Amino acid sequence: MLTIDLSGKRALVAGVADDGGFGFAIAKSLAEAGARVSVATWPPALGIFQTLLRRGKMNESRTLSNGQPLEFEHIYPLDAAYDTLAAAPPEIVENKRYKEVGDFSVAGLVERVRADFGEGGIDFVVHSLANGPEVRKPLLDTSREGYLAAMSVSAYSMVSMVARLAPLMKPGGAFLSLTYMAGERVIPGYGGGMSSAKAALESDTRTLAYEAGRKYGVRVNTISAGPWASRAASAIGIIDEMVAYCARNSPLPEGITAKEVGDTAAFLLSPLASGITGTTVYVDKGYHAMGKAVEARYSPPPEGDPQAE
Ligand SMILES: NC(=O)c1ccc[n+]([C@@H]2O[C@H](COP(=O)([O-])OP(=O)(O)OC[C@H]3O[C@@H](n4cnc5c(N)ncnc54)[C@H](O)[C@@H]3O)[C@@H](O)[C@H]2O)c1
Repeated sequence: MLTIDLSGKRALVAGVADDGGFGFAIAKSLAEAGARVSVATWPPALGIFQTLLRRGKMNESRTLSNGQPLEFEHIYPLDAAYDTLAAAPPEIVENKRYKEVGDFSVAGLVERVRADFGEGGIDFVVHSLANGPEVRKPLLDTSREGYLAAMSVSAYSMVSMVARLAPLMKPGGAFLSLTYMAGERVIPGYGGGMSSAKAALESDTRTLAYEAGRKYGVRVNTISAGPWASRAASAIGIIDEMVAYCARNSPLPEGITAKEVGDTAAFLLSPLASGITGTTVYVDKGYHAMGKAVEARYSPPPEGDPQAE
C-alpha cells in the first residue's frame, strides 16, 4: 500500500495560534503521518494559545485518528517581521507580550531549533503566516508603510526562513508556504498590498526552489488555498462572501476544508513528492480554472445605454 509515512521526520510549522487555520490543520496532518511537530507563534497570540492548550479547549480538534492528542514538541515565539532581535524597535522589545518570550526574531527561532535538534535536525518547514495592516484598504489607498509591512511579514519572511533554516535541514528537506489566488487575479477587498505580497511569495517560491535546491538539496513549494474562514481571513472582512462565491462557482461546487490543505501539505513535504519543487499547487476545488462565473447571466445593455456603444 502506498502511504504517507513521515515517521522519524521532524517539522516546524510557523503561524499557528489556534485550531482554526491552515497551520494547525497542516500540523495535524503531519502528525497523522507520523511526524513530530513544533510550531512557531506570533508573540501577541502566544499567551492565549498556550492558555487554550492548557485549559483543554482544543482537546477535540487535537485528537488524532489513533485517539492520541496532537502534541507540539516545542512552541517557539516568532515575529516574522524581524530577522534579528536587534532589528526590532524598542516599543516592540519592551511590549508586555514580547518582553518575557526571549529572542522572537527569525534568527532567534533558528538558534532555538539548532539548540533543540542540532544540525540536520529538521526535515520540513511550513510558512503559514501573513499580515497586512492595511488589508481592508484598496491598493490605491495603501500607504508605502502598509504595503511594505505586508511584503515584509507575508513574503520576505519566507526568504529569511529559507535562507536561515535550510542549512539546518536534512538532505531531502522541504519548505512549504501558503498563498492565495489574489496574487495572480484581482480579488476586490484583498487590499493593503497583500495581493502584491502573495505575488512575490509565488515568484520567490520558484527562485528559492532553484537557489536552495542547488545549495542545500531542499524543495520549496506553495499551496494556493481556496477561501477559508480562519481568524486571519475573518479579519479581512470579505471571507464569508468569498467562501460562498467560490463554492457556487467552482468545478466542485463546495467549500474547501482545512484538512484538505493539511493533507496536501503532508504529501508535498513527503518523499512521495520528491520530484516536485518550485510549484504552486491549488487546493481550491478547481476555482482557479474557471474563466466565467456560473451564476452570472449576461443581459445586453438596453438601447440608448452609453455602454452599448
Ligand atoms: N484563510 C484563507 O482564506 C486563505 C486562503 C489562501 C491562503 N491563506 C494563507 O494561509 C496562511 C495561514 O493563514 P490562515 O488563513 O490559516 O489564518 P491563521 O490566522 O490561522 O494564520 C495566520 C497566522 O499568522 C500569524 N502572524 C501574523 N503576523 C505574524 C508575524 N508578524 N509573525 C509571525 N506570525 C504572524 C498569526 O498569529 C496567525 O497564527 C496565510 O499565509 C494566509 O495568507 C489563507
